[in-house]
Amino acid sequence: MGVEWYDMIARRNGGYRSNAVFTIDGVSAEQIYEERLAGMLPAFDSVLDAGCGHGDFTIKMSRHAKSIIGFDNSIEMIKIAESIKQDSKVNNVDFIYATTKADLPFSNGQFDFIYDRRGPTSIINHSRILCSGGTVFGIHTGALTTVKERLHNNGFINIQIEEFNSAVIYFPNETEFAKFISGMPGNPDYTDPSLSKELEMKIEENMINGKLSIKEYRYIWKANKP
Ligand SMILES: C[S@@+](CC[C@H](N)C(=O)[O-])C[C@H]1O[C@@H](n2cnc3c(N)ncnc32)[C@H](O)[C@@H]1O
Repeated sequence: MGVEWYDMIARRNGGYRSNAVFTIDGVSAEQIYEERLAGMLPAFDSVLDAGCGHGDFTIKMSRHAKSIIGFDNSIEMIKIAESIKQDSKVNNVDFIYATTKADLPFSNGQFDFIYDRRGPTSIINHSRILCSGGTVFGIHTGALTTVKERLHNNGFINIQIEEFNSAVIYFPNETEFAKFISGMPGNPDYTDPSLSKELEMKIEENMINGKLSIKEYRYIWKANKP
């Protein structure tokens, strides 16, 4: 997804977040990923959060880690991350504006752990910044074939991929559904009355047994650099 969309959502929602109300039925891969990540972090010295967004997740994870650098190619996200950091008084996190589309401003082998929570999967092509024996750990919704190819092409080993597709997200009404889908990368603002016809179509597409809902698909992936 283009940087313009992320800059726009940062300005509109104060970051990559939404205030939509919903419930999740079934095993949420996001929850599993967060728990596993929190459990893994203490073992590493130097951690990178690839595509950290507005940084609140990085700040949340910092209490499990010695140090984390979060980078993102949306300047608007990084501005918010910096301001959240100042308010939090956390001192083991740094935020950097950078893109995976160019060489990253980190040295060879600088990190022993890189995590990627729905950030750019192209981080896998920057394996030079991971030390030998280092770990990459991600969660994504799409591009599974690309992630597999990138891990193989960059010589990663111990590749593990786990898919989750049993969770269902339920919405109490159309307003909350519209808010939720408006925050999905690339989507327009479906809460805008001028898009009411398009919203109506989305609602029709997302009825499961008469309930407004979306099936959550995620995969969690992990690998090591030899
Ligand atoms: C779906 S958001 C996830 C944000 C955060 N990881 C989270 O879990 O809340 C994806 C983030 O990756 C960033 N991003 C996308 N492509 C990028 C790239 N090529 N280089 C750096 N950041 C990128 C976006 O700006 C956005 O903040």
